Amino acid sequence: MPSVLFILTSCNKTLTGKPTGWYLPEAAHPYYVLAPHATIDFASPAGPNPPLDHGSAEAFKGDKESVQFLKDETVSQKLANAKKLSEVNLKDYDAIFYVGGHGPVIDLSADELNAKLASDAWKEGKVVSAVCHGPAALVQAVDASGKSIFSGRNFTGFSNNEEEIVGMVQEIPFLLEDKIKALGGQYEKASDPWGPKVVVDGKLITGQNPASAACVGEAILKAIQ
Ligand SMILES: *[C@@H]1O[C@H](CO)[C@@H](O)[C@H](O)[C@H]1NC(C)=O
Repeated sequence: MPSVLFILTSCNKTLTGKPTGWYLPEAAHPYYVLAPHATIDFASPAGPNPPLDHGSAEAFKGDKESVQFLKDETVSQKLANAKKLSEVNLKDYDAIFYVGGHGPVIDLSADELNAKLASDAWKEGKVVSAVCHGPAALVQAVDASGKSIFSGRNFTGFSNNEEEIVGMVQEIPFLLEDKIKALGGQYEKASDPWGPKVVVDGKLITGQNPASAACVGEAILKAIQ
């Protein structure tokens, strides 16, 4: 069976101290797409039990997969056993996947171990994927020549417009759309905010927002099968 490493934030507070964490459906939807076909592990900078964004649990309390994810014994065990990034052996995985939430923009974007992990995954030809704010975890990822993995590639992720709509611009160190465009990425988005959008450019798979999470899971599955 192919294997996928889900990487989640360990950050539970925004820049001004609002509660945050990883965004529930962005883990739950790809998880249930992939779980029948792939081995899945979790990792985060601080290891076990990365912080859930409780706002996402509230917003998705009517969503079947999100509710199931929180009650799922297997998932709870995997979260309790989430590896620290220093404990990850990339050889064990065919793909890495970054779950969103505002947390990754704050911790994973600046984490040196994560920068190395993502760069190594890319150089080794593994699938590198992310949804919503997850691509922020890849801003330090470089290819063998030291260039950003976004340079000259198409990508998507949470838009400036969506960030303004949710009133979170002041809560994060940078706007994902602006930052990755500055790294040479060609940004694409759905015609309307919150619409599903997935961009596959070689081994780089990105999704725009929560509505894109299941489609990102499907794109990862296709890429590793
Ligand atoms: C990237 O986007 C451009 C412009 O939309 C398109 O022509 C090109 O085919 C895309 N490349 C990939 C690899 O998807």
